[in-house]
Amino acid sequence: MKDKDQLAMLRERYILLVDDHDATRETLTEVIRELGHHVVEAANFEEAVARIEERAHDLVLTDLKLPDGSGMDVMKRLKKLHPETPVVMITGHATIENAIDATRLGAYEYLTKPVDLKRLRIVISNALYLSNLERQVRQTGALDALVGHSPKIRQVKDLIKQVAGADVTILVVGESGTGKEMAANAIQALSSRKDGPFVKVNVAVLSRELIESELFGHEKGAFSGAVRQRKGRFELADGGTLFLDEIGEMPLDSQVKLLRVLQEHEFERVGGAETLPVNIRLICATNLDLKERVDEGKFREDLYFRINVVRLKMPPLRERVGDIALLAEHFRQKYCARYNLDRQFDPETLAVFERYSWPGNVRELENAVEGAVVRSTGRMIDAACLPEELGDAPRRIESGVEPGVQLAEIERRYILSELSRLGGNKSAVAKSLGIGLKTLYRKLETYSESPITPDPDAEYSRLA
Ligand SMILES: Nc1ncnc2c1ncn2[C@@H]1O[C@H](COP(=O)(O)OP(=O)(O)OP(=O)(O)O)[C@@H](O)[C@H]1O
Ligand SMILES: [Mg+2]
Repeated sequence: MKDKDQLAMLRERYILLVDDHDATRETLTEVIRELGHHVVEAANFEEAVARIEERAHDLVLTDLKLPDGSGMDVMKRLKKLHPETPVVMITGHATIENAIDATRLGAYEYLTKPVDLKRLRIVISNALYLSNLERQVRQTGALDALVGHSPKIRQVKDLIKQVAGADVTILVVGESGTGKEMAANAIQALSSRKDGPFVKVNVAVLSRELIESELFGHEKGAFSGAVRQRKGRFELADGGTLFLDEIGEMPLDSQVKLLRVLQEHEFERVGGAETLPVNIRLICATNLDLKERVDEGKFREDLYFRINVVRLKMPPLRERVGDIALLAEHFRQKYCARYNLDRQFDPETLAVFERYSWPGNVRELENAVEGAVVRSTGRMIDAACLPEELGDAPRRIESGVEPGVQLAEIERRYILSELSRLGGNKSAVAKSLGIGLKTLYRKLETYSESPITPDPDAEYSRLA
């Protein structure tokens, strides 16, 4: 991250200030605002809890002694919901025991009243700087699992970083094997609910009869076979994150019930009369075109709008050819370690990988590498160890062009599709097409004057 961004990150932070003494709050508020941050005030424990439940803060400054509780209680409550938020304890009652207690519970710093304002400024800046660094380390860790550095996967990672922290519902879409579940894992790991429960349900494998009892639980005797009360996935995910995989497969009658939970934040167990409140962050995934399912009457439009708040599209592997070698290498190491083998890729093997279109995406690549590692007899993994469909496959391009299209138009579409596939890297496109870079630029210039501005993805899916 550039220094300028670093500095920007260290301003405009949200600081919760808890103190029952109005004059103290006023003075401290002024100091914090001068440092360029927002102040959220609370005059007692109850108000502090309400503010903590509303949002995550970047720092909490709290008085130790509050009329209805203590700064320690504030910190305990905070550690449950937002364990990463640093706390600075302020008190007029400095005793060694308090200091020890506060630091044992994880207070970042301990200040005594009257507060030395110069020291306060330094403590605030240091606490924010450290927590910012820690956050970056955590984020990189969770996102590192998503191997890839192509522009498309970088966009995915940026969006994850941007939205993971907000409690917003996320819909992850993409073809089979593109890493939708991995993206869901990263979102959860980067969210403020990362230490809460993370419950995953694959809707597609649940039978129609079982799905509601799975999701909402059931009471004893609700149906034959319900010999005891059972908690559903919503209840188990309370306070955490629920991942509904293959949501497009959900039967319509269950969709109605799901919509209600999402809107009202409450539900009943199957066969139960009691209404139970629930607090979850929802992540959904599907490889179906949900809009199309809506048009076909198989998916409720209102539910579609409710879950399609932030949409994260996992790009197919053929659109990020630049990641193929990196992923292959990642899986080679994984399976060499697992099977205790020493294998390297023959350069031709990697070239075959890059030429292939990977309809099964990353999962297919992973399986191909695992198979090849195990099958190769020598130290080198050569093309002979690869599944047949890859063996001699130059990337097949079926025409897919409607009759009567002029050659120049086909050329235009193909060039744009290659541009999209290779993540906008013009030298790579020129190389792949066997033309000079200048020629490519000239052609692209004429396209930008062309009245049709095609969606490169759509072009590609028609051609590939
Ligand atoms: N960017 C990536 N880096 C490393 N491994 C990946 C990546 N993307 C996917 N994988 C691996 O590929 C496999 C498929 O990923 P995942 O299960 O997340 O895909 P999916 O989109 O949920 O697939 P499906 O639609 O079939 O459910 C997993 O083994 C996963 O570990
Ligand atoms: Mg999946």
